[in-house]
Amino acid sequence: MSGIRPTGFLHLGNYFGAVKNYVRMQDEYDCFFMVADLHSLTTHPDTRELKQHVRRVLAENIACGLDPEKVALYCQSHVHETGELYLYLNMLAYKGELEKTPTFKEKVRLQPDNVNAGLLTYPVLQTADIIIHRAKLVPVGKDQEQHLEMARNFVNRFNHRYGEVFPEPFAFNFGETLAKVPSLDGSGKMSKSENQMATVYLSDDDDRIRKKIMGATTDQGPTKLNSPKSVYIENLFLLMRLFSDPTIVDQFEIEYNNCTVRYGDLKKQLAEDVVAFVRPIREKTNAILEDEKYLADIMEKGAEKARNSARQTMQLVREAIGLQYY
Ligand code: TRP
Repeated sequence: MSGIRPTGFLHLGNYFGAVKNYVRMQDEYDCFFMVADLHSLTTHPDTRELKQHVRRVLAENIACGLDPEKVALYCQSHVHETGELYLYLNMLAYKGELEKTPTFKEKVRLQPDNVNAGLLTYPVLQTADIIIHRAKLVPVGKDQEQHLEMARNFVNRFNHRYGEVFPEPFAFNFGETLAKVPSLDGSGKMSKSENQMATVYLSDDDDRIRKKIMGATTDQGPTKLNSPKSVYIENLFLLMRLFSDPTIVDQFEIEYNNCTVRYGDLKKQLAEDVVAFVRPIREKTNAILEDEKYLADIMEKGAEKARNSARQTMQLVREAIGLQYY
């Protein structure tokens, strides 16, 4: 089970950090993938663009290979049972632990005028999302480890107090380290909040991708044989390893090491390979977005699957807590 916040367009970092893992999981596991539209209300109370963002995130995930026939692909707000479980879990979550959550503190810093209770209990709702399906594996990035640890704490508290209902959920990535996608300006990972020109989106057209990659920061070039690479050049090679033919990357490595490399050629190669990767995803996304009926059907079918699973869990939860009076 995993959730994706509909707060922006997907970029290459999201693809390699998350979506690629979802696609791989769908053949081996019973999967629930959800658009976290309710979570987005904690930071984006203005909902004018919500519908568009939800539709885009669904379309992009499908275009990347997620198959709505194989998995339950749904919207958080369509599974009302989650709200009920969230309420019960809130009685097991302490104000102190919620206040010291790093993501909460970060958001207090970012939006001091809107420190709402939803922000404080964000990890509680996330726990409800996961355990409503009694899920064990949660494909997420490093930034979500803390939330998963809190989820395990809430699960253990629940089980201890009311009886074993939930398995402990763990972050999952096939036992491999997730491919990090570096940004194009040498400032860490690709992300949606930072420099727009340093992040390649799955929605970028061919020329925009070329422009971004040709604009990537480089250095003066190697002057000594086999010199170590600067962060900028290391990043370009990391990107090449993700998108380009290995023999071509090897050739550029050789040229770097014997100081004949031309960064312009390297970037041109990389740009074309990224264009070739993104183009079919972008085109498929656009085709899906044009088909209102198709997306509506997907959402309905996904919600139906998710609700079936949620209803079964809630039956057990109400019994365990002792809310059945007759
Ligand atoms: N908090 C996650 C994020 O910021 C999104 C999310 C919501 C999620 N519910 C979830 C992730 C359940 C995994 C499982 O990306």
